[in-house]
Amino acid sequence: MSRPTVYIETYGCQMNVSDSELMYGRLAANGYEPVEGPEGADVILVNTCAIRDHAEQRVIGRLGELRRFMKPGAVLGVAGCMAQRLGPTLLEKARHVSLVVGPDGYRALPALLDGARSGERVTATSFDLEEHYEDFAPRRFDKVKAWIPVQRGCDYRCTYCIVPYTRGAERSRRLDDVVRETEQVVRDGMTEVVLLGQTVNSYHDGAHDFADLLRAVGDVAGIRRIRFTSPHPNDFTDRVIDAIASVPQVCEHVHLPMQSGSSRVLKRMLRRYTREGYAECVRRLRDAIPGVNLTTDIIVGFPGETEADFEETLSLVQEIGFEDAYTFKFSPRDGTPATRMPASETVSDAVASERLERLIATVRAGARERNLRLLGTRHEVLVEREAKRGEMLMARTRDFKTVMIPVEGATVGAYYTVELTGTSGSTFTGAIVRDEPARRLSLPMAASC
Ligand code: SAH
Ligand code: SF4
Ligand code: F3S
Repeated sequence: MSRPTVYIETYGCQMNVSDSELMYGRLAANGYEPVEGPEGADVILVNTCAIRDHAEQRVIGRLGELRRFMKPGAVLGVAGCMAQRLGPTLLEKARHVSLVVGPDGYRALPALLDGARSGERVTATSFDLEEHYEDFAPRRFDKVKAWIPVQRGCDYRCTYCIVPYTRGAERSRRLDDVVRETEQVVRDGMTEVVLLGQTVNSYHDGAHDFADLLRAVGDVAGIRRIRFTSPHPNDFTDRVIDAIASVPQVCEHVHLPMQSGSSRVLKRMLRRYTREGYAECVRRLRDAIPGVNLTTDIIVGFPGETEADFEETLSLVQEIGFEDAYTFKFSPRDGTPATRMPASETVSDAVASERLERLIATVRAGARERNLRLLGTRHEVLVEREAKRGEMLMARTRDFKTVMIPVEGATVGAYYTVELTGTSGSTFTGAIVRDEPARRLSLPMAASC
């Protein structure tokens, strides 16, 4: 009999991407054959995100569409953060869904699917604070860089955020297990790892902190680039900053979510830092890691955000000079403290939209100005994949700039030195500098070079 096929569609953050890789691994080890699309698959899983209402609406729409691809007897399951948040009510909302499984339930997937495939409708949304899926062999989507979860859950309680409710309490993997996975990644031919956690720099396995982890991963032979996402400003100890600065493989890029530039709003968000505290964190990073590039996340329209508060966000964005920012309109999430703030403080959608536009324009203008100054400079890039635009490859500098280079003479997964020849304002085009092999520039190089 042929093996049952499984297709997983992934929404949300890199943690979900990584979880989907684990689910594919688990199911492949249990007799399933991963397939590229939903048409005719025996099992379709949608790995969902609950961070904003928009993310959930997209999934609801998609669940409706997926019905078309289901052959008789096929199972449609919902996994991830929205599954955790809504639990069995999802089964009521969507009658063609027969499995709901939260982020800590993937060990039981084969058994749950046996049930669902024999006609049961099942929900598994218990948290398991010991669960790191250590014995799973992830089937990775990416052949160039590997997502490595080092921490699950979150112990912060930012008042707007659903993640602590969908992913439970913070727990870290053992350092040895992360190192073991990194060694496997190298054996599989990859040279870049991205360490994942909701507040990744608060990593602590009981014996080792994030500084120890960066050093241990840096010691794995064959790793050339280490990235991590997302750190919390309050968890940048001197030890961690020193490790970022001194482990040569750690790239000069920090994604440092800011959320707001107003101390008053930050306090109500329970971010546990002020405008000045955030700026101080940036100063410490820049002092220790020359040339470090910063990107961020920002929310506009949080309850009670005034025009003056928003202008403080704009001014901090300008002051810091982010390379890029993910910008969001506040989206109320059921059960989070922000939804209990007085209705009179709600920022209207029209005002939030207008602020979002101004914020995006400010981020773009700053990035464009800085990027124009970089034309003609040379950088080491790693080619990540074919670009959507024909005849080009998408490569990244250590400090996370996107550079499009011509396909000719370049290979996905290889390192080159490129000269930046043009910029759209946010991304670059580049030409490979043939007389300057990348390897000479990059190994081993102080993080500040
Ligand atoms: N753990 C990370 C962020 C995880 S969620 C951190 O603490 O920085 C990714 C981003 O989504 C957040 O940084 C925030 O900017 C945004 N976000 C989270 N909840 C949101 C909400 N309710 N409405 C709008 N944006 C939100
Ligand atoms: Fe959400 Fe805050 Fe935790 Fe990030 S740190 S996941 S924003 S609660
Ligand atoms: Fe979304 Fe869950 Fe990630 S809510 S952002 S998929 S942790």
